[in-house]
Amino acid sequence: MADLEGSGTGALPTYPDLAGKVAVVTGSSRGIGAATCRLLAANGVRVVVNGRDAAAVDTAVERIRGAGGEALGVVGDATNGAVLAALRRRTEDTFGPVDVLGAFVGGGGQPSPITEVTEAEWRATIDSNLTATFLAIQCFLPGMLERRRGVIITMASTAGRLPGGAAVAYAAAKAGVVMLTRHVAREVGPQGVRLNCIAPSAIVTEEHPLRRASEEQRQRVAAGFPLGRLGLPDDIALAALFLASDSSSWITGVTLDVAGGRVSL
Ligand SMILES: NC(=O)c1ccc[n+]([C@@H]2O[C@H](COP(=O)([O-])OP(=O)(O)OC[C@H]3O[C@@H](n4cnc5c(N)ncnc54)[C@H](OP(=O)(O)O)[C@@H]3O)[C@@H](O)[C@H]2O)c1
Repeated sequence: MADLEGSGTGALPTYPDLAGKVAVVTGSSRGIGAATCRLLAANGVRVVVNGRDAAAVDTAVERIRGAGGEALGVVGDATNGAVLAALRRRTEDTFGPVDVLGAFVGGGGQPSPITEVTEAEWRATIDSNLTATFLAIQCFLPGMLERRRGVIITMASTAGRLPGGAAVAYAAAKAGVVMLTRHVAREVGPQGVRLNCIAPSAIVTEEHPLRRASEEQRQRVAAGFPLGRLGLPDDIALAALFLASDSSSWITGVTLDVAGGRVSL
């Protein structure tokens, strides 16, 4: 059984309806995606771990299996539609149809004035965040519509909710993910598929710059959050568990700000 890694609740919540379901999370060999796969697997979900680095995928899969969970690793670039189609086929061949999609792949660059952003940087960021989310939804939604059930969780960011502090293309892409989620949620709700979005802030993953910051710097950033601490991958994974489960069965089209209270009203 997986343990929570310091997210504040102490105990791992269980959602019995999740047991036996199949979940794919794009971008999940490390960070938020890996934590989400770990907590889903601890709830009896058969999870597909994805990333471009085979060694990282293997490590994440072995960790889940070592804790008694079921996991399949699929290496590949989840911003590419053909790779996503192959990922879906591998999943269906191994575990069966997909009940839960976490379209998590994405990431941002360094902020700079808009006049200095090149067309190539802009297009690359929109592509790897907004277009990648569109492609993942388009790949997995038809099977869900056919079965008239399914859950999709997308990944925005505080950057897409509040201006300032992030690269402009990343902010625009993540705001786009919010509206993409709302739009599709409205379209497919009558057919039994729910889509919701998570907007995290300052989640200290293995790769996050704050991981290498001094304790003093981390405390300074943490003090800017009403809840007085930085986020951890399990904070997002816990929200994803709830949104994946039937406990959120009357919630669709929302964006959940998992941001320590730093939200706009
Ligand atoms: N951490 C935060 O503070 C924060 C805040 C707001 C939003 N978010 C969002 O949350 C999501 C996850 O972020 P994270 O911080 O957990 O990132 P992370 O720690 O860097 O992990 C990213 C994961 O995605 C994989 N990945 C990256 N590009 C990929 C691609 N093209 N195809 C397949 N896999 C890919 C990485 O493995 P490989 O590199 O080996 O492929 C890794 O497993 C992103 O959408 C990010 O924008 C994060």
